[in-house]
Amino acid sequence: MTHSSQPAPLEARRCSSLVGGVRVPGDKSISHRALILGALAVGETRISGLLEGEDVLNTAQAMRQLGAQVVREAGGSSAGEAIWSVRGVGVGGFATPAAALDFGNSGTGCRLVMGAVAGCPITATFDGDASLRSRPMRRIVDPLALMGARVTQQSEGGRLPLTLAGARDPLPIEYRSPVASAQIKSAVLLAGLSAPGVTTVIEPEASRDHTELMLNHFGAEVVSVADGAHGRRISLTGQPELHGAQVTVPADPSSAAFPIVAALIVPGSDITLDDVMTNPLRTGLFTTLREMGASIEESDVRRDAGEPMARLRVRASKLRGVEVPPERAPSMIDEYLVLAVAAAFAEGTTIMRGLKELRVKESDRLEATAAMLRVNGVKVEIAGDDLIVEGKGHVPGGGLVATHMDHRIAMSALVMGCASDAAVKVDDTAFIATSFPDFIPMMRALGAEFV
Ligand code: S3P
Repeated sequence: MTHSSQPAPLEARRCSSLVGGVRVPGDKSISHRALILGALAVGETRISGLLEGEDVLNTAQAMRQLGAQVVREAGGSSAGEAIWSVRGVGVGGFATPAAALDFGNSGTGCRLVMGAVAGCPITATFDGDASLRSRPMRRIVDPLALMGARVTQQSEGGRLPLTLAGARDPLPIEYRSPVASAQIKSAVLLAGLSAPGVTTVIEPEASRDHTELMLNHFGAEVVSVADGAHGRRISLTGQPELHGAQVTVPADPSSAAFPIVAALIVPGSDITLDDVMTNPLRTGLFTTLREMGASIEESDVRRDAGEPMARLRVRASKLRGVEVPPERAPSMIDEYLVLAVAAAFAEGTTIMRGLKELRVKESDRLEATAAMLRVNGVKVEIAGDDLIVEGKGHVPGGGLVATHMDHRIAMSALVMGCASDAAVKVDDTAFIATSFPDFIPMMRALGAEFV
């Protein structure tokens, strides 16, 4: 789905307080994986709480193009909630799609499906919007080539559009990933499903483990052990029979991050968020905010299909600057933008270390974060791969933020405007629909003034 809509600018004005209870939409990472594993399983997979954002809908469409049956049924457990039913084709059973697979803005959908296709004897073309076409793909196709897949066509620099011929007889590999990336790890493991023997990925730091947890949930054997101080060694036994399963998607902590930071910085706020996934490989932001003095309380702690979740209560808090260590980056990689907003409202300096990977997200988020803060009167510096924000307890605001086709820039800037002295404008909110389609009405219902 490539955006053709007109830009949708919006302005966030300082509001009095944010109060109420919400459930942010389903986790994006888990939603992609549920559709992909459902499509590779035998029998029916039923998914409740799936994120119905553009990124995930593109993955659903790709699964249909590859031969799975994917149907949205109205009527889940709560009003308005749908159940998604997926009837899969079995491991290695994808069919050659008649047209290119268009992943829109989504690196995760594209890269995970590349892995799944690499283990099937088919050819598929991968494409996306201008943001996705600018992102690196060699980090994915290089290990897949070691397993026997071939790139038959690509754009300059190994970018999309790219055509991948899957391996007829995929080889199991042991792959030491140069970066801690759940997308690289997942692509190799998904290709490894079709290979005989054991496929192993070694990562320098632990990245989110939803693929491993869900593969086990669908009947595969995946074992993960420590490797060095922060790394993991993950091994999958190939050629399992995956069985359709029931998946309940918890609320996305990366989406919850926006109302959470907004409630912390708007005086008098008190909000609750239900069913937020609290997998420790995703909650680096919560750890950091608590170190800064944030009041975030957990209750109703539960576990579903291996994933922990809880209700969070967040109250406005006086924040102070902290230093965030580089090894925490994989557990909060999508949250630095909104953490930088919290840091700007804190008293004192916040140093965020080791943010190299932010340069290859939906936009160059290191530059974009600095630009977002600077244009609103915050002192900020990029030193190598580190970001340094001078918190002064308040933000002047008054700036126009360029969103660069990046949903998280748009939401972070709007959160900043909820508490800044003068309003904050964003040039385009259209891309928020990729991950959090109800963000604007949900924030308004809590008390945000978006005009
Ligand atoms: C994701 C992994 C992360 C993250 C992305 C979702 C996933 O990317 O930024 O939003 O679901 O596997 P990397 O693997 O590139 O770090």
